[in-house]
Amino acid sequence: MNNTKQKQIILLTGASSGIGYDTARMLAEQGHKVYAAARRTELMTPLLDLGVTVIKMDVTDEVSMQEGVNLVLKKEGRIDTLINNAGYGYFGAIENVTMGEARRQLEVNVFGLARLCQLVLPTMRKQGKGRIINTASVAGKAVLYFGGWYNVSKFSVEAFSDALRMEMKPFGIDVVMIEPGGIKTEWGFIAADHLAESSKGTPYEEAALREAEMLREVYSMNLLSKPAMVAKAICRAVNSRRPKVRYRVGMASGAMVFFHWLLPARWWDALMRWYWKIKI
Ligand SMILES: NC(=O)c1ccc[n+]([C@@H]2O[C@H](COP(=O)([O-])OP(=O)(O)OC[C@H]3O[C@@H](n4cnc5c(N)ncnc54)[C@H](OP(=O)(O)O)[C@@H]3O)[C@@H](O)[C@H]2O)c1
Repeated sequence: MNNTKQKQIILLTGASSGIGYDTARMLAEQGHKVYAAARRTELMTPLLDLGVTVIKMDVTDEVSMQEGVNLVLKKEGRIDTLINNAGYGYFGAIENVTMGEARRQLEVNVFGLARLCQLVLPTMRKQGKGRIINTASVAGKAVLYFGGWYNVSKFSVEAFSDALRMEMKPFGIDVVMIEPGGIKTEWGFIAADHLAESSKGTPYEEAALREAEMLREVYSMNLLSKPAMVAKAICRAVNSRRPKVRYRVGMASGAMVFFHWLLPARWWDALMRWYWKIKI
């Protein structure tokens, strides 16, 4: 095993598909003990053959998060790495997305992640070491058209992780962010469905349906990076003795952040309108 050459006890969320599934597989193949969590446990059955322990967990449910962490601690007596990867995109115009859906977006992408950190930190502090790896996004750096609440959630993950990193330094706990660009997973279809559903019968419908269609097309093509590419970056963050603070990885991730930094705000807005063929 690279770098740390040590088997680690790892709790990973969002492991039923996409980036999380590939990460669970790779980490298990490298000899780590992986506890893989998600709601759709049936999708994780193939991971059992690799020695992965599957946990049913909804990151909006306090009891299920507590039970998941307690299971790891009861079986292993320690936890070396928490990988907060569960997340989805609720796309839609700010005017249209209900406060309930907006809250749920933050509940999954931000508060679930934050609560799991709180649940593992006392143990990691006692151990005098530990690592928390949060899946952020380039959407936590650059705002996308109709991405409003998803962007809010991922900008929050960035700020939360920066704050936690400072606080955890004295305790020997590393905090790392993974910032994927476009990755070919279910994510694009879920975001497209939410965008279409939230815009129905509103002045945004035509533009939203066009963007939803484009999202589905892009996420069907092989243009996007494969989830395994992000999984490899997460493995590097797990195995490295001194991990980087940020791992930016995947299609257009560097370019998006660079152009968002370079362009005046209204030029970025215009670029987004042009890219998504927005006609409103
Ligand atoms: N794909 C991209 O282009 C991209 C780019 C940047 C960042 N990301 C981020 O990468 C992470 C992984 O996404 P992905 O692309 O691999 O998408 P994905 O294939 O849709 O996987 C999302 C995972 O999150 C889990 N999840 C969703 N809601 C949950 C909840 N309430 N409780 C527990 N688990 C939940 C899902 O499991 P269940 O439904 O079984 O619970 C699933 O395992 C997300 O945080 C996403 O925002 C993705």
